[in-house]
Amino acid sequence: MIQAKIAEILESDQFLQEYHIQGWVRSFRSNRFIALNDGSTLKNLQCVIDFENTDEDLIKRINIGAAISIKGTLKESQGSGQRVEIEVTEIKILGDANPEEVKLTILSPKKHSLEKLREQAHLRVRTNTFGAVMRVRSKLSFAVHQYFQQKNFYYVNTPIITGSDAEGAGEMFRVSALDMKNPPKNEDGSINYKEDFFGKETNLTVSGQLEAETFALGLGQVYTFGPTFRAENSNTSRHLAEFWMIEPEVAFCDLDQNMDLAEDFIKYVLRYVIENCKEDLEFLAERQESEDKLKPKAERSEMNLLEKLNFVLDNNFKRVSYTEAIEILKNSKPNKKKKFNYIIEEWGADLQSEHERYLVEKHFKSPVILFDYPAKIKAFYMRLNEDGKTVRAMDILFPGIGEIVGGSQREERLDVLKEKMAELDIPEEELWWYLDTRKFGTCVHSGFGLGFERLVQFTTGMGNIRDVIPFPRTPQNAEF
Ligand code: 4AD
Ligand code: MG
Repeated sequence: MIQAKIAEILESDQFLQEYHIQGWVRSFRSNRFIALNDGSTLKNLQCVIDFENTDEDLIKRINIGAAISIKGTLKESQGSGQRVEIEVTEIKILGDANPEEVKLTILSPKKHSLEKLREQAHLRVRTNTFGAVMRVRSKLSFAVHQYFQQKNFYYVNTPIITGSDAEGAGEMFRVSALDMKNPPKNEDGSINYKEDFFGKETNLTVSGQLEAETFALGLGQVYTFGPTFRAENSNTSRHLAEFWMIEPEVAFCDLDQNMDLAEDFIKYVLRYVIENCKEDLEFLAERQESEDKLKPKAERSEMNLLEKLNFVLDNNFKRVSYTEAIEILKNSKPNKKKKFNYIIEEWGADLQSEHERYLVEKHFKSPVILFDYPAKIKAFYMRLNEDGKTVRAMDILFPGIGEIVGGSQREERLDVLKEKMAELDIPEEELWWYLDTRKFGTCVHSGFGLGFERLVQFTTGMGNIRDVIPFPRTPQNAEF
C-alpha cells in the first residue's frame, strides 16, 4: 500500500498497485463514481465503489465537500475522460459535509461568480479556478527565490513595523498600543507618542527599500520578499491594502543594469511557471477565453493567456523615456478626442493607468519600460539627472496590468539627497541612518519593487487582484 497524492497517481503506470488516498469529494454519481480532489492537481481522481457491497449508510455520507479516505487498486479506466481510476476496497468518511448546508455555499456544483467566491474565500481554494491560481502563485514565489539565489543575491527580511515613510506618500497604517479611547496627551492636546509602545510614531511599512539599501551596501546584492501595506483608498482591480513586494537592491549598479535585471527576472519566473504549471495555466487560459467571450469585441484580448506569456518571453521590453512617452500621448487619438479622463497637456503630468495602458496595449503592443521621470512626481530617493529636472526612475508597464514594477537608481550623493529631503520637509533625524550610508562608502546603486500580486494577475489572467491573494485586504474589507 502506497500513500500517494492524486497528482502522482494520475501519472502512475503501476497497475494493480494498492494506494491510500485522502481528499475531498467533488462529485458522486450513480452511487458509484467519486471524483476525488486532494489539491495536488487540478484533476480529480475517479474512485469506483462496489455499491452493492458497500454499506448504505456510508454511501449516503459520500457528499460533495466531505473529506474521505480511500484504499484501492489502480486500474486502467473503462470510461472515457480518464486514463486510470481506483477500484475502491475500503472507504472511510473522515469529515462529513451536510448536503443541505453545502447547497448554501460555493461548494455546490453550479457556476458561481468570482464576487460570490470572494465572499467565501475560506472555501474558494477548493474550486478549480482558485486551486489553479494558488498553485501558480506558490510556484511563482519559489521561482522568485530560485532566480535570486542562483545569482547569489541574499534574502533579507526588512522590518514590517517602521518609523519612516519610504515612499513619502503618507499612506500608512498606524501601529500603536495606546488606548484609543483615552490616549496620553501633550500640553497642546496632541497625542503623546512618547508613551506609545515604541516611544515614537510607528506604522506598517510601505516598502522595505530603505533598509534593503543599507544591506546592499554591505552584502552587495540583496532582495526582500515580504508583505507591504498601503492605506490608499483605491478601490480598483489592481490595488490591495496588503500586498507582497519583491525588492532587489544592488550596489555598483546603474539604471540600465537595473532595467536589465528586472527584465531578466520577470522572464525567468514566467518561463519557470510555463514549464512547471502547464496544466493549471491551460485551464486558466480556457477560463479567461470563456470570460472574454462575454465582453464586447473591442475589449477582448487578441492573444490567449499562454500566447501572451510567451510573447513577453520572446520580445524585448520597449525602453522609452518619459519625455518621449508624453509626446506619444499628447498626439494620441484618445487625448486629442478627449477620451482620456485625464488629458495630457504638458510635460510633467503624472501618468494615470489609462495612459500607461494606452502606451502598452495600443501604441507599443509590448511591455514597456518608461524611464527618466520628472523629479516632481517621484520619491525623494531617486537620483537626479544632469538636467536638474528628471530622475533616474523606471516603471515597467504590462498589458492588462499597467505598472508592475517601480524602481530607480538611488541618489548616492549626500548633499543632493539632503537638499531634496529639505525641499520635501523630510526630517534628517528620521533618516539619519539612511544618510549615514551616503557618508561611509557611498556608491552608485539601484533597485526596484515588483508587486507580486500584479505578477500573479498577469500570469494567471485573473482580472481582479482580489482573486490572486488568499485573503484580500481592501478598503472596508478585512474578513477572514
Ligand atoms: O512603485 P512602488 O510604490 O515602489 C516602491 O515601493 C519602491 N520602494 C520599490 C523599490 O524601488 N524598491 O511600488 C512597487 C510596485 C508597483 O509597481 C506595483 O506593482 C506594486 O508595487 N504596488 C501595489 N500592488 C498592489 N496593491 C497596491 N496598493 C500597490 N502599490 C504598489
Ligand atoms: Mg510606482
